[in-house]
Amino acid sequence: MQDALAAMQALATAEGRADPYPHYERLRAAGPVAPLGEGFAVVTGYAEADQVLRDASFRVTDAVALDRAMPGWRTVASWQWLSRTMLWRNAPDHTRLRRLAGSAFTARRVAALRADVTALAEELIEPIAAAGGPVDFMDEVAYPLPVSVICALLGVPVADRDWFRPRAQDLTLALEVFAGDPQELARADAASDELAEYFVDLMARRQREPGDDMISDLLAAGAEGRIRGAELVSHLVLLLVAGFETTTNLLGNGLAMLLDRPEHLARLRADPALSAAYIEEMLRLDPPVQVTSRYAGQDGELAGVALPAGTEVLLVLAATGRDPRRFAAPADFLPDRPAVPSLSFGAGAHYCLGAPLARLEAQLAFPILLEKLPHLRSAGVPTRRDRLGFRGYATLPITA
Ligand code: HEM
Repeated sequence: MQDALAAMQALATAEGRADPYPHYERLRAAGPVAPLGEGFAVVTGYAEADQVLRDASFRVTDAVALDRAMPGWRTVASWQWLSRTMLWRNAPDHTRLRRLAGSAFTARRVAALRADVTALAEELIEPIAAAGGPVDFMDEVAYPLPVSVICALLGVPVADRDWFRPRAQDLTLALEVFAGDPQELARADAASDELAEYFVDLMARRQREPGDDMISDLLAAGAEGRIRGAELVSHLVLLLVAGFETTTNLLGNGLAMLLDRPEHLARLRADPALSAAYIEEMLRLDPPVQVTSRYAGQDGELAGVALPAGTEVLLVLAATGRDPRRFAAPADFLPDRPAVPSLSFGAGAHYCLGAPLARLEAQLAFPILLEKLPHLRSAGVPTRRDRLGFRGYATLPITA
């Protein structure tokens, strides 16, 4: 247990965040479920994390749990915001909120966006080919593509996307593994207030002039009493930001993997039909969302470890993707491996609502990038963002 505790401490440092994978292996050495003191356990095993995610007796952090564990939490605006969203709600509220958003994210609705996403990706990538010189892939493609798509779906003016970027990044600080740093929480709180104000204003405009978009649909649901007020605003903020950094980081992490492996870059360029398998392998090997958590709603046991009611269970999704009991040669990039789903989009009731959308964007963007930029290569050392829970690059210089 001592080394597992030391590994957790290492993950709280900048070095640990830069390359968390050796520390995840130290956690794994303590077992697929490692009890780390009273009331806390860390899961690195695939089967065990999958079980927790699918078992409703393990609950997401919600207002009830927070009231018990952290009585002052209501002073933190960004945690209040989260506690009103589906991400931090359990049934029956979770079920209601998920249904309200679900119809816009079904595989069929998302597949209908194929032509729009293709056009957007081309629009962003073609100027890189024309410029020739070095550009930052994160700025030019990885960020604007997912944001423009979600803005179109929700009915948010795409012209505001540069205003959203720092705010969305700050807001996700509220979800970080070791969240609690007062300065970081203050940034998350300011972002949550500003984004809420933004949506209140936009909702008023859509109320006057409804459009063919999700905000107008949700306002109609509000009229039927299914969602309204602060809950509706929080719901919209979640839908806007949940797909930003995550999909941005899938594109960045994925391209970095290809640039490091020229043989795979050439293979995917030659055969774009491999795109889906490549994206799944990128998601497994370096997932944008590294961890999530649950707490035990009742006394129980997992892999022989007692988990009394209230125990917080940290699920290291990124480690489950490298569980040698599930994936052979787990640290290798092998897109031909049998199609075993990773847990990079979660599982069970809270399985990522935007997974079909994120997959579509990445599956279309990579082949377009490789086709339009036949001489694509790295133009310098990429820099990582100093984050643990949300893993991605700050800059990824490329040249066409
Ligand atoms: C590669 C990109 C993405 C990754 C890796 C990702 C990852 C995840 C994960 C791991 C969860 C489950 C969290 C948990 O169970 O505690 C989740 C939930 C969620 N994701 Fe994503 N996500 C991505 C893109 C998106 C997009 C594009 C959207 C679009 C709106 C989105 C919306 C959501 C929402 C609303 C939830 C909460 C679902 C619920 O609580 O029922 N995500 N995501």
